[in-house]
Amino acid sequence: MRARITGTGFYVPDKVVTNFDLEKMMDTSDEWIRERSGIVERRFVDSEIGSSGLGAEAAKIAMAKANCQPEDIDFIIFATLSPDYVFPGSGVFMQEKLGIKDIGALDVRNQCTGFIYGLSIADQYIKSGMYKRILVVGGEVHSTGLDMSTRGRDVAVLFGDGAGAAIVEPGDSDDYGILSTHLHADGRFAKELCCEDPGSLKTPRLTEEMIASGTVYPYMNGRQVFKHAVVKFCGAIQECLEANQVAAEQVKLVIPHQANLRITEAVAQRFGWKVHEQVFSNIHKYGNTTAASIPIAIDEAINEGKIQRGDYVVLVAFGSGFTWASALIRW
Ligand code: ACO
Repeated sequence: MRARITGTGFYVPDKVVTNFDLEKMMDTSDEWIRERSGIVERRFVDSEIGSSGLGAEAAKIAMAKANCQPEDIDFIIFATLSPDYVFPGSGVFMQEKLGIKDIGALDVRNQCTGFIYGLSIADQYIKSGMYKRILVVGGEVHSTGLDMSTRGRDVAVLFGDGAGAAIVEPGDSDDYGILSTHLHADGRFAKELCCEDPGSLKTPRLTEEMIASGTVYPYMNGRQVFKHAVVKFCGAIQECLEANQVAAEQVKLVIPHQANLRITEAVAQRFGWKVHEQVFSNIHKYGNTTAASIPIAIDEAINEGKIQRGDYVVLVAFGSGFTWASALIRW
């Protein structure tokens, strides 16, 4: 039997940070941010909740929609680039918050593609019969790790905090569920979008100089990312449609990782789809929430009635690594 997503949920912190709020912290403007990214506002945490805490709130909603209790979950997959601690991963912290004991908890570190990588793992475990109900979460707290001064403005204005969750279970028919996942990476571009310190290469791992020089904050070669993102998003969609012999016109909804509205528009144009109608976008509200962006978008799309049973839905992502991935789901 194929694996199916039987429940989804998302949670974002209450604190709304608009582009105008950012104008007060750094030399930027609402116009610059809107024009280049489509972002109008994002959410930032205002307490020590961590990516595990955001993930736990999203998971509770997903479990309620899937009609299951925490004790029914038999495996956890947590995708994040912003774990609560350097180690252990956020999966075990979320497990503790949900009161689930003894089951396995795996952290996935594939940044913007983390949720699809996690879904792919869940898909294989369900199909092999190893697990029956897997909780897959993407959760991020970016706001505590951004350089909120003018020096960091090219990156800081793009990101927001949030979490999304999905319950993956065996389906009731081979005609529905996760039809395919395709995962890719090219480490030659690892340093084009990265956070260098504190890592294990250096001794000591953290120095005042690292903080002063800004290597503890994310670095992004924006133009390089943009160029590769459009090509890889399109290639990943093409690959998943061809593998399943599904035409672009048959697709009801594409849910891309919410990187940047301009990237989403370029991808939609390439396939003749319309943003908002066939290609989901909520980046204006939340910014880029990395591993959380796809599960947040799936839940919002379902809540808005944009996904019905039997619809073909494409998930697609590109990000740091560089990594890129797709999933085709017949809902
Ligand atoms: N506010 C105002 N000015 C800024 C800001 C800011 N927040 N950030 C940078 N600038 C300045 C730069 O310093 C530069 O100034 P200069 O010309 O005086 O040197 C100028 O703006 C650059 O502007 P543009 O030439 O328009 O920059 P560009 O077209 O490269 O756009 C951007 C930059 C938006 C980052 C673009 O490269 C991009 O969209 N890249 C993709 C990045 C992305 O989406 N990342 C998401 C994370 S990765 C992922 O999820 C896949």
